[in-house]
Amino acid sequence: MTDKRRVSMHGQWSSRWAFILAATGSAVGLGNIWKFPYITGANGGGAFVIVYLICIAIIGIPIMMAEVMLGRRGRQSPINSMLSLSKEEGSHKGWQIVGWSGMIAGFLILSYYSVIAGWALAYVFRAATGMFTGATAEGIEGIYNELVSDPERLLAWHTLFMVMTMVVVARGVRSGLEQAVRFLMPALFVILLILVGYAMSTGSFMDGIRFLFTPDFSKISKAGILIALGHAFFTLSLGMGAIMIYGSYMTDDASIAKTSFAVAIADTLVALLAGMAIFPIVFAYGLEPGAGPGLIFKTLPLAFGQMPGGPFFGMLFFILLVFAAWSSSISLIEPLVAWLVENHNMNRVTASVMSGIFAWLLGIATIFSFNLMSGVKLFGKTFFDLLDFLTANIMLPLGGLFIAIFATWVMSRESSRDELALVGKAEPVYFIWYFLTRFITPIAVIVVFLNAIGVL
Ligand code: TRP
Repeated sequence: MTDKRRVSMHGQWSSRWAFILAATGSAVGLGNIWKFPYITGANGGGAFVIVYLICIAIIGIPIMMAEVMLGRRGRQSPINSMLSLSKEEGSHKGWQIVGWSGMIAGFLILSYYSVIAGWALAYVFRAATGMFTGATAEGIEGIYNELVSDPERLLAWHTLFMVMTMVVVARGVRSGLEQAVRFLMPALFVILLILVGYAMSTGSFMDGIRFLFTPDFSKISKAGILIALGHAFFTLSLGMGAIMIYGSYMTDDASIAKTSFAVAIADTLVALLAGMAIFPIVFAYGLEPGAGPGLIFKTLPLAFGQMPGGPFFGMLFFILLVFAAWSSSISLIEPLVAWLVENHNMNRVTASVMSGIFAWLLGIATIFSFNLMSGVKLFGKTFFDLLDFLTANIMLPLGGLFIAIFATWVMSRESSRDELALVGKAEPVYFIWYFLTRFITPIAVIVVFLNAIGVL
């Protein structure tokens, strides 16, 4: 295949740097700053963090390499890439189902992702106008409750964020955001460091650090292990074809292993910094670590209310959070849009607008699950909780499982070796990847699933 490589009809990244930026933009998002702290808080802290880190290292990085590899070799939307590759490897065309389930998962995640990103948008203005200055923990909690209990306001912010996402997707993900990510990601990193600095001044810094990094395995449940696994997929944007389609725009000379490492490390650092900024505040103000999806909105504003220049830093932080969410949300819908363009002869603009309208509509159910329908529960979960559970904890790990099986059991070693190009001194990296992807990932995912449903 090396001599007749495919070319993507949607274009290519301008350089290997562009791929790293785009993939980091996709990975770093609400998952790191909003979700990681609240699920860590709700699942007991240290032990959860350890399980999450292990999942990133032995499952996340290999799956990321596998996804980029399949994408770059297929050079189409995940559905059509899987179709072409299964034909090429002499296997069943049913493998395209991986692309289908991924496309649906991305669409479902976007529907609620946009609602939460809308909260971050709303907080830009709350921070800038000095609403947090000198506020007590109760005051800050009141501001949060007032926002989420008002469906109309949530709808307005959700609409704005969805429009922002669709504008970028319609123009093609390669223009524009690449530049933004280059400057905004480092800026986000710096402001997180400032927040960690504030956390050190609260007097409860070590309580936060202990909570995050001292594992107590009696505090993590079977469900908690599944949530940690699911989050490893969610935070690295794996298991649904987002990284696969970004890989399909990657230049042929870029190293898949090196770029995957770089993205995973940047992503993990951001999450850990967010945790180190948030938990000291939780303990300093006697808040509840298991406060749920509102955790960052109840803690960080306290820091902005106390520190010098708080309104400015607060505004900056939430702007950067919106950008991080923005560069993630576009990757959630790109597989669907690319597929509509390839198979339904649609232009990008129509495809983006249509997908956006449907995701926006579904998002309304998430909005209601924080107010009008907060009492409507199935299996003890609201609509938002269920959607999050189904996508992050079931669909993404299953998608990852099948990607791993395809990449190492179906695809020939010649093909994966050719695409990963790990030769010479890098040969051992190939074997580690092969071993982890062929045996460890499938076994781990299956064991965690069986464990969670109580079979083991
Ligand atoms: N990784 C992003 C975050 O942490 C969210 C995201 C973007 C995602 N694309 C994805 C999650 C694909 C799962 C699959 O916020």
